[in-house]
Amino acid sequence: MSLKEGARLKPGTRWSELLAWYRRNPRQNLPWRKRKSPYRTLVSELMLQQTQVEQVIPYYHRFLKRFPTLEALARAPLSEVLDLWAGLGYYSRARNLHACARQVMARHGGALPEAPKELLRLPGIGRYTAGAIGSIAFSKPVPLVDGNVTRVLCRVFGIREDPRGPAVAKRLWSVAAGLVPKRNPGDFNQALMDLGALVCAPKSPQCGRCPLRSDCLAYRKGWQEAIPPPKKAIPRKKIRYVCGILTKNGSVLVARRPFTGLLGGLWEFPGGEEFPELSKTESLRRLLKEKLGLEAEPRKMTCRLKQLLTHRELQIAGFACAWSGRLKPRWYDEIRWVKKTGLPRVGLTAGMRRLAAVMAGRGPDS
Ligand code: ADE
Repeated sequence: MSLKEGARLKPGTRWSELLAWYRRNPRQNLPWRKRKSPYRTLVSELMLQQTQVEQVIPYYHRFLKRFPTLEALARAPLSEVLDLWAGLGYYSRARNLHACARQVMARHGGALPEAPKELLRLPGIGRYTAGAIGSIAFSKPVPLVDGNVTRVLCRVFGIREDPRGPAVAKRLWSVAAGLVPKRNPGDFNQALMDLGALVCAPKSPQCGRCPLRSDCLAYRKGWQEAIPPPKKAIPRKKIRYVCGILTKNGSVLVARRPFTGLLGGLWEFPGGEEFPELSKTESLRRLLKEKLGLEAEPRKMTCRLKQLLTHRELQIAGFACAWSGRLKPRWYDEIRWVKKTGLPRVGLTAGMRRLAAVMAGRGPDS
């Protein structure tokens, strides 16, 4: 099948095999598929952006339990939404979801609008999410293209150029628009995503199980592994972070980062980036003075770890500290003493969450 053909293609017998495959696949049990509503689709689709299904499921359950309706979400303070999102990453999604709920309450009487054009005006809803909500929640025949769909379409149509470029991306959206059926558009879109996730995987795709195999140009030509072409390696910037493990009566100090800025509203063990001209301990002394008004003496490095992020390599070192003085959250938004057993319930950043787990093995004051 050529790309030109594909663009004109109406879902025929072979695409209906994709739907039949979809209805048989084990992902029918996903919580947002079992119980559907526009609000549930909104929450799940925002959580699923850049995040694996398996990682999203427990967050989705907790979120729906705490905010069962869009109205409940709109009424809640942002801090609570961020606490529930902690560990899932890409926190702008949580802010946007919250802002979106408030806007829907204020401008749409609490009901998500059905028209993709209206959806696109809401915070956090781009072309992909508008396609997902439009097709899944409102049965509109609108396309969606995410990473998985991109890979499936590139392979089926034998597109060998890099789909990260804008020209190919534009072509893929128009191909997807030509494919999405009027009946069950949401199932069709989700079938493409599932096929990419479960069968048409980036490495070692399981072509033997693929319902589109007989139409797939990459399969016929043996191009599966070469499509899409590999990403260029991105050099990661090294960030060295030091933090203080301050304890009092068996509790440890955590501090909330300011709501504006990187990882805004999330909690951490207080500290910051090392100063290049200072040692780790000197940096930490200065950071704790500046950010908490505290005289602290780092005594011993009790935990360290490396966290790989998309564009950065974060190295975190935690020091048990002796300290004196009155704590003033100068840079931080808020501070709190937490029992070590309570740390998993604090909305820590992903790196600090891992550090807390390392500490749980050794204990900051043991
Ligand atoms: N990824 C993002 N949204 C999805 C959905 N609704 N089904 C499967 N994978 C997805």
